[in-house]
Amino acid sequence: MNKRIAVRLILSLFVIASNAWSQDRIPIIFDTDFVMPPADDSMALMLALQSPEFEILGVTTVAGNESLERATSDVLRMLEIAGQAEIPVYVGADMPLVHEKSDFAVENYGKWYSNEPPPEPSGGFASKKAEEKSAVSFMVDTVMANPGEVMLVAIGPLTNIAQAIRAEPGFAGNVRQLVIMGGAVALLPQGAGNITPNAEFNFWVDPEAARVTLRSGIPIELSPLNVSRKSALTKDWYERMVVVDTPLTALLRETLGRRFEAEPDRLWLMYDQIAVASIIDPTLVTSERLYVDVDIDHGISYGTSVGGRKPWPGAEAAQQMNVQYDLDWPRFIEMFIERVQRPLR
Ligand code: BDR
Ligand code: CA
Repeated sequence: MNKRIAVRLILSLFVIASNAWSQDRIPIIFDTDFVMPPADDSMALMLALQSPEFEILGVTTVAGNESLERATSDVLRMLEIAGQAEIPVYVGADMPLVHEKSDFAVENYGKWYSNEPPPEPSGGFASKKAEEKSAVSFMVDTVMANPGEVMLVAIGPLTNIAQAIRAEPGFAGNVRQLVIMGGAVALLPQGAGNITPNAEFNFWVDPEAARVTLRSGIPIELSPLNVSRKSALTKDWYERMVVVDTPLTALLRETLGRRFEAEPDRLWLMYDQIAVASIIDPTLVTSERLYVDVDIDHGISYGTSVGGRKPWPGAEAAQQMNVQYDLDWPRFIEMFIERVQRPLR
């Protein structure tokens, strides 16, 4: 063996020894306000689980669409159904940093404040349990042990991420990239909110966490409502998805299928799935680099994200990020269907 090859071999053995994951995969931590299908988080996780581009180091749960308990219980079961129960699950924040339950929250979408026991997921509760370690400790330890390597995928309120940023001063500087589904940007087309006139749900549930995160210095790819609104999952696409029989398509038939039976003309937006797909193939989306900040005044714009081409008064600390606003829908949905139909990994 010549000297150069020997040096390369030693170097690659060193890299393999310092990381548990395969070098051609992106190591990700998947942070989610998970609920079983037809919720978007579960379809986003299906896509990630079925994609060899990722090494999922762990799933961290947060209150958002439903309670923290439900997010955790559903994701544990989902991992069993997907045949990847070895992926560890870490329990995160059960409430936002500051935002409290209100009459408005109760009357509108989302059960983030709830502490009701979770309903039994499809096929019963998982025998797999969540880890003892907290979501924040897992994130901090993993990122700090692998500087610049780990990507965070955040598709719920940003409470866990903000807590990790606050817990460890070196955390933000050592994250490879953070891909967020959240916000809505009025400067770009289709930038209205979906929970208040201007605020998007994930940012509105925890506006203070969103601001801490967006100002943290972590390189951010933002997948806001602007790009989500370029998607439209119809019954026809759903029927194509389930022509192949796998445990994942069976779950989709049982859940999404029932919803299409009741509402055959409904169009479903695919929010979190686009965030994940854009990591696998960045050419699926079109983005613009903007400064984005979040309003944390407890007034009419609480939780609203604001994007600008230059910083503006009050947003001097805002950082630039890639903001997605357009989608190649046919290529995206074809990719989603093809991956969900693959045999389980
Ligand atoms: C976001 O809010 C949640 O309801 C969805 O899962 C998605 O992450 C869309 O505003
Ligand atoms: Ca979500």
